[in-house]
Amino acid sequence: MNDELKIPVHVGIIMDGNGRWAQERGMVRTMGHKSAINTLKELCAHMAEVGVKYCSLYAFSTENFKRDKKEVKFLMNLFVSSFKKEYIKLKERGVRIVFSGRREPLPQEVLDIIDQITEETKVNSDLVLNVCLNYGSHAETVDMVKKICEQYKKGDISLDDIDEEFIQRNMYQDLPPLDFVIRTSGELRLSNFMLYQASYAEFYFPQVYFPDFNSEEFDKAILEFNKRKRRFGGVENETKNS
Ligand code: FPP
Repeated sequence: MNDELKIPVHVGIIMDGNGRWAQERGMVRTMGHKSAINTLKELCAHMAEVGVKYCSLYAFSTENFKRDKKEVKFLMNLFVSSFKKEYIKLKERGVRIVFSGRREPLPQEVLDIIDQITEETKVNSDLVLNVCLNYGSHAETVDMVKKICEQYKKGDISLDDIDEEFIQRNMYQDLPPLDFVIRTSGELRLSNFMLYQASYAEFYFPQVYFPDFNSEEFDKAILEFNKRKRRFGGVENETKNS
């Protein structure tokens, strides 16, 4: 990729279209999720290579529990098997993996592997992969308010301590704001994904389904990001970051 290009510091990816990808090929929907894992492996290596520092992946929303029980079970097993199989390579590649979302009602096997991966990759910093699992922005807001109220109740903070940075620190993860949000499959919505963190993000909605969103598609997305003029509510050319 051209060295002159600006690389977004924090990229969010809503991995949509797995089911349709499979159905259009005469396969069951879950095969689309399976294929998405290969895409993810390629993308993670590519993002680390081009210098993305943080990537938030929408892997499973709080609302996804409403799906057919068999699909939910398939996805939970897929998380466990893929994490077990892939995390060593990611760890050696310098990737730190963190998770955002509610632990309840994730199965114990999922909780065990996410705890292990979080611990084992915590010294890494080349690319931080924030996996949003049983995640919803509304749930995150509720949990953040409760966390802050607890601190206030204990007398650990005063009202004056609560500012935007403090709110950020009390989210599931203390990460920089999203610069660029990509949602595959042509759907034009955020679906409860990191609403607070995406306040000044640029958005990109490619038509391709997630299993086809490979490195080449990612590079196209970066070219599009470079065409955007980011003003953060100010005047042109006064950008806060890349
Ligand atoms: C949306 O496509 C996709 C999901 C709800 C699941 C995404 C999960 C993965 C790709 C696995 C990630 C794994 C790890 C280890 C992080 P959809 O099923 O809604 O597709 P559709 O809109 O075509 O029905």
